[in-house]
Formats: sequence, structure tokens, C-alpha cells
Amino acid sequence: MKTIIKTIDKNRIDKSTIMQAGDILKRGGLVAFPTETVYGLGANALDEEAAKKTYAAKGRPSDNPLIVHIANMEALPKIVKRIPEDTYRLADAFWPGPLTMIFEKSDLVPLGTTGGLETVAVRMPSDPVARELIEGAGGYVSGPSANTSGRPSPTTAEHVREDLDGKIEMILDSGPVEIGLESSILDMTVVPPMILRPGAITREMFEAVIGPVAVDETLVNADSKQAPKAPGMKYRHYAPKASLIIVDGEEGEVVKAIRRLAKEGADSGACVGIIATDETLGKYEHGVIKSIGTRQDEQTIAKNLYRVLREFDDEAVTQIYSEAFAVAGIGKAIMNRLEKAAGHQHLQASEVNRTAD
Ligand code: TXA
Ligand code: MG
Repeated sequence: MKTIIKTIDKNRIDKSTIMQAGDILKRGGLVAFPTETVYGLGANALDEEAAKKTYAAKGRPSDNPLIVHIANMEALPKIVKRIPEDTYRLADAFWPGPLTMIFEKSDLVPLGTTGGLETVAVRMPSDPVARELIEGAGGYVSGPSANTSGRPSPTTAEHVREDLDGKIEMILDSGPVEIGLESSILDMTVVPPMILRPGAITREMFEAVIGPVAVDETLVNADSKQAPKAPGMKYRHYAPKASLIIVDGEEGEVVKAIRRLAKEGADSGACVGIIATDETLGKYEHGVIKSIGTRQDEQTIAKNLYRVLREFDDEAVTQIYSEAFAVAGIGKAIMNRLEKAAGHQHLQASEVNRTAD
């Protein structure tokens, strides 16, 4: 299949491009599209066959449900059975935007889309291209992240091309995304609602609107033997090819420890990668060193994380060390994705330095 790549200007959306993309979706084809979080792999969410194609293109296990993207509130009651009161308050506050809510599904939504579950995940994105595309496709577009399963989510159309060229009909390219991490997921089928995946909308932000919310314990406790409630969270997603270890501790200690680990790697002929920040970039000598942004701006770090992980896949590094980041605000989502990429491997800087001295 030849994949058509169309650039599209968010501020001056070309209607004929949207029509062409919408037609592909209506006919059961696949179109990758920008959202404010990451690029999505669009298909008609009400078409079982289109869901099958989605899983095949991503190489994704078909028990991992897709998110249904809508463009307005009128679309919601048609695909869900019951809308809890809090939904409206949350939608007022955070839709359109990086929030996915889970409801009991209506019969309109095929089990193929929900990975066999009786619940459905719904999101109303704010990206104007995404919104126009959803309208152009008939109102319901399933959109998992547009990456090959097991690779970091795509934050540019180029990332989508790397993974899905030749496997889908079209890619809409409107440049790099705004946020860079997938939406927050909130399960509305339980009381109180439960966070299944952290994102740009934080627990504090939810609680300011609806009061206490719960958090899936597998997010809090890395050693939990329970399966995460969002099926996709159980996979070792976002994984770079090299082994990744997070180094914890106070900044000076961390730099010292990573310097030593990189030097040891170099001495033994290995090529080590380092995920640094603008503040620490100049302090390292050995290995492939990349800054993920400034600690002054967590938003930038969120936006750069997946790009940096992808870049390391193209380098000959076998071991990556990353500085740890603060877990306040969007930092919680950053560390959640980094933890998953690292398979929860950590080193204490002070320990590393102690054995050195
Ligand atoms: O920001 C986003 O949410 C992006 C953009 C494209 O909108 N989409 C995205 O989709 O991240 P995906 O498929 O990569 O991740 C969807 C997550 C998976 O972890 C999946 O298991 C979970 O949502 N999920 C979907 N439906 C669910 C359901 N009914 N119950 C529990 N978890 C569900
Ligand atoms: Mg994904």
C-alpha cells in the first residue's frame, strides 16, 4: 500500500484534505492524524473490520481496547449506556482536551473496538485537525497512538511514517504535537472515578472539579502483582531498544554517578546513552548525551521524552542512564512513562558513588 502523506495547517485547515481523509475512514481505511497529546491511528470506531485493520497495522494484541474520539457532547449518549453526573463537570472543565473517560458501552460500539470489553474509552480531542477529521468521518474515530506496538508513541508525523509507512492509507502532518504524552484516563464506571493512566490532567485537577478520585494501585506500586485496569498499561510499552536505568538522588550526586557509569561503560568498550537536562548537559563527557529539556519547564520535558527515546533507538547504545524527574504535576505522567520504558529499573546515585569512593 502506498501511504499518502498530506501536510495540513492547523490554522487554515484545507477542507478537501479533510474530505479525502474522512472518505478513507468511512470506507473502512486507516488515517493517522495529529492530536494535542500524540498522533493517533484513526479508523471508523463503529466498524469491526476497521478495528481489525488497526490491530494488524500496529502489531497490537487485540485484547487491548481502542479509544473512541468524538467531536461534540451530542455524540456521547449514542455510544455509552449511562452518563454519571460527574461526567458533565469533567467535560466542562477538560473537554476538548487530554482526558479519556471510560463508560459502559452501548450496542453501537462493536466489541472489536473495545478489545472484547463491555466498557468503552471516549475522548474529545482539542486539536482542530483531529476535530474536523472526526466530523468528516461521521463522528466516531478510534485512535490508538499511531506507533508500532512496543515503540514510543509518535509526537511527529515523521515518527508515524517510521512505524506505519506502507501499512495505512494516509498520514495527516500538522507538525509536532503540543503535549507529547498520552491522555489521562479516568474510569467513570466506578465510584469514586479511578485514574488508570496519568497524563496532563492530574489527580489534583480532577479533585478540584469532582472531589476525591481513586488511583489504580498498579500505577502507585511498581511491585503490585495485580493486572493494571487499563489493559494497555500491562505491556512494556514505550520501550527503547537499549536497557534503560533511572538514576535517583540529589542533582550533584546523580551527575557524579552517571558520569562514573558512562566512563566505566566506555572503558569496557560499551556505548552508553545519557538522558540529561539543559542544566546538566555540559557536565557529562562519555557516551551519547541528549538533553530532554530544562527542569524549569516540565511541559518541554513531556514533549521531548518520546522523541529522545526514539533517537536512542537509532544509536548504537546498549545501556541508557536517565536522570529522574520530579513527580509533581505532569511530572507524574513523565515518570510513569519513563518507569515503563525502564521496566522499573532504578539505581541510587549515592550507592553508585559510595562504591566509587
Ligand atoms: O492521548 C491519547 O489517549 C492517544 C491519542 C491518539 O488520543 N491515544 C492513545 O491510545 O493513547 P492507546 O490505544 O495507545 O492507549 C489507550 C489506552 C490503553 O492503555 C488501553 O488499554 C486503555 O486506553 N483503554 C481503552 N479502552 C479501555 C477500557 N474500556 N477500559 C480500560 N482501559 C481502556
Ligand atoms: Mg499507545
